[in-house]
Amino acid sequence: MLLWHGRWTSPKSGGRCEDLGRWIVASAWPYVYSLPHLGNLIGAPLSADVYARFLRRKGEEVVFVSGSDEHGTPIEAEARRRGIRPRQLTDEMHRKISSLFEAFRISYDNYTRTESPVHVRFVQEFYSKVYENGHIFDEEIEQLYCENCGIFLPDRFVVGTCPYCGNPKAYGDQCEVCGRLLTPLDLIGPRCAFCGSTPVVKKTRHWFFDLPKFSDELRGYIERNENFPENARNMSLAMIREGLKPRSVTRDNEWGIPAPFPGAEGKTIYVWMEAVLGYVSAVKEWAERRGKPELFDEFWKDPHTRSVYFIGKDNIPFHTIIYPALLMASGQGYVLPYNVSSTEFLMYEGQKFSKSKGIGIWMDEALELLEADYWRYYLIATRPETKDSSFAWADFEAKINNELNDVLGNFVHRTLTFTASRFGGEVPALNPSDEEARSAISRAEDLAKRAEDSLWRFRMREALVRVMDIAREGNAFLNSRAPWADLKEGRVERAGSTISAALTLVKGLAHYLEPFLPDTSERLWEMLRLDGSPHETTWDSAFEPLPEGHRIGDPKPLFRKVKKEELIERLREIRAARAQPES
Ligand code: MF3
Ligand code: ZN
Repeated sequence: MLLWHGRWTSPKSGGRCEDLGRWIVASAWPYVYSLPHLGNLIGAPLSADVYARFLRRKGEEVVFVSGSDEHGTPIEAEARRRGIRPRQLTDEMHRKISSLFEAFRISYDNYTRTESPVHVRFVQEFYSKVYENGHIFDEEIEQLYCENCGIFLPDRFVVGTCPYCGNPKAYGDQCEVCGRLLTPLDLIGPRCAFCGSTPVVKKTRHWFFDLPKFSDELRGYIERNENFPENARNMSLAMIREGLKPRSVTRDNEWGIPAPFPGAEGKTIYVWMEAVLGYVSAVKEWAERRGKPELFDEFWKDPHTRSVYFIGKDNIPFHTIIYPALLMASGQGYVLPYNVSSTEFLMYEGQKFSKSKGIGIWMDEALELLEADYWRYYLIATRPETKDSSFAWADFEAKINNELNDVLGNFVHRTLTFTASRFGGEVPALNPSDEEARSAISRAEDLAKRAEDSLWRFRMREALVRVMDIAREGNAFLNSRAPWADLKEGRVERAGSTISAALTLVKGLAHYLEPFLPDTSERLWEMLRLDGSPHETTWDSAFEPLPEGHRIGDPKPLFRKVKKEELIERLREIRAARAQPES
């Protein structure tokens, strides 16, 4: 029954993966009761996007999926609050969120939803198999029931004190402070999330996944997987050591996927137990839509496929324990996660994002303030890879103005305007015996290789620094060679060789910025008049110099400087305008 097929070779040293292969890149499916904020964006979709784009540039075969997580108690609760049907809420939110992801250039091959008929059918068939394989049992259990509201109180319908860490606002499914998985009866002093009354205990029958059976297999799998970040590995092994418990698969809620077990009529599947299967069903849907259903097995059932998941740290146990155990239990030969890249939290000026308190910036607001690449740059540069990090306006202003503008924007603009004004927009000759020019190019190539190394290790923040170093290198090169002085003194050839080398660096940047700043990469592509598109070109010839005489396009400044006071004021106006009733 063991589905883990030993080790994947992990590409550690530069260059490409030893064997070109297939990758499933996935980001956590957002709950759609509210729009994602910038912390959510870097936590999963943006990190995954950088990775997916990187792999494509390396010539790997990639399918990048996610979707809206529509079921579950938070959404039911939000729909109740608004007095609408859950489906009405999720239809509207799915549309909005999909278009925000598009605007941020998250390059999903399939961004779908858990109400998709393909997903619903897949989940039901999946659990029928797990049931037939003998990993599901049913039991009458005691559950919290609110007599005032007339409903059972699973998961987030109930709040109380966490028995592990004492957090007074723990939910019935998980404590958000210590991350432990809970069941409602674990809570100390439980209260109904809707009316605050103290629930009674009532009997109901539920179906359970026999998770403890998989403890040994899971431990071996986690121990052998070298890729898991420390936070994911430590937390998961500690949970196994403490002892896993069977996890309930069913709920008494109406909103959800009907459970396929004999005798479970009227029950639905617990949201987490089906949403994680979306990673599998989304690839199925994608394959079928492309008219190549065989791609599904080729991706999911080939033991060499690497699947990588980008999630926030609060989602770790679902991805490193429950999800792999479910894949094992299905007996279908689905590949287990190659890596779960779990970020820490992004704070906002040192505080937790909070919609109700207006702390933070949301994706829709961000786009009204500045174009996507400004945010992408800042968020990747502050990605909370090893500890929590914080969005801070002063830091934002500094990074945009001093790095994006003064380092990258400036290097590109100097080079291109010099080419346009002094060489008539034509690439001058690179003198083959110009050692300085050649070594500038080879240093840039070296930085690019180091950026790749960082990316293979899932260190995007470090990778972006390396790529920006190419522009730093470029500025230093231009300063030391001073082609303007050469021209003044009639050394046209030397000046030309300098500019040709600088243009080569710009070309390299157009390639290597693609995973991070796709719009900027496209604009560079256009200004250099390169063939094709940066989204279809691999990096193999990124630093090959442009041919002499090649005509470049019109240079335009890439970025503009920002003032934090103005942005903060503008944000205030946006919020005030939204608070007005629509006329
Ligand atoms: N909806 C969850 C959240 O926002 C994440 C679900 S990830 C999935 O925290 F794998 F279950 F889809
Ligand atoms: Zn109640």
